[in-house]
Amino acid sequence: MIIPGADTQAFAAALAEETDERLARVEYERFPDGEHVVRLPEAVAGERAVVVASTVDSDAHVQALQLQDAAREVGASEVVTVLPYMGYARQDEAFRAGQPVSSRAMARALSTGTDRVITVNPHEPAVCDFFDVPATDVDAAGVLADPLPENLEDPLFLSPDEGAIDLAVTARDGYGEGETDYFEKDRDYDSGDIQITPSDAPVGDRDVVLVDDIIATGSTMSESVEVLMERDAQRVFVTCVHPMLAGNALTKLSIAGVEAVYGTDTLERAVSEVSAAPVVAAEL
Ligand code: R5P
Repeated sequence: MIIPGADTQAFAAALAEETDERLARVEYERFPDGEHVVRLPEAVAGERAVVVASTVDSDAHVQALQLQDAAREVGASEVVTVLPYMGYARQDEAFRAGQPVSSRAMARALSTGTDRVITVNPHEPAVCDFFDVPATDVDAAGVLADPLPENLEDPLFLSPDEGAIDLAVTARDGYGEGETDYFEKDRDYDSGDIQITPSDAPVGDRDVVLVDDIIATGSTMSESVEVLMERDAQRVFVTCVHPMLAGNALTKLSIAGVEAVYGTDTLERAVSEVSAAPVVAAEL
């Protein structure tokens, strides 16, 4: 049985269809003091329960823990937790003295209620080691090519930093043709400002596809789009696995001159054009 978190209902429905497993009806409520309470009205005695929750904020984290516990309460024989988007995964080390390793803290908490974890393209796959139960990451970059137009002009698949080049290569392979390259990126951790250093790859009159794991504030991608437009790229498409798109990210991308923005459904946004559910279904 597939048990959706409140913010992950479309992904859970897609996963239920892919796996041919039953989709559980969940009631999400709050007490007057603001505390969450979820409810699974149907028993799942002896069945595997798959909790599907992108832990996009603190509320989603609490609900994920509650759904794991509720699944056991109604008799699940095994609880698998799918985190299409794992929140706090980018805090995978204490960057400054006195900070926690937040992804470890979250992973430990989520481990208490599950037998196994599957997550999609965490920023660093090593976060899987923070779980106390078996945890696997799957790669959804292969589906990022699906929404792209078929007639890209001499396409260049580009990542905004070296760390994401594998995603660009996988997206290019999914598209079937094109070069790959990466920019250099520096971030000032105090101001959050991004400095992009372009590569030597010629972009004039070419269609460029920028590929990354996540668009959060949109600074990385909008700075990259600006650099490409200044260098006379024909069209710049932006695609990512996790379209967080916090605050004014979409506006920043539009002002920079992006042709289109695409993402998967690990986070349910207007740009979630393609589903990562088949990749998770294969791992399940
Ligand atoms: C970091 O290296 C990641 O791969 C992303 O590039 C980054 O997290 C995107 O963040 P933002 O959209 O805030 O620039």
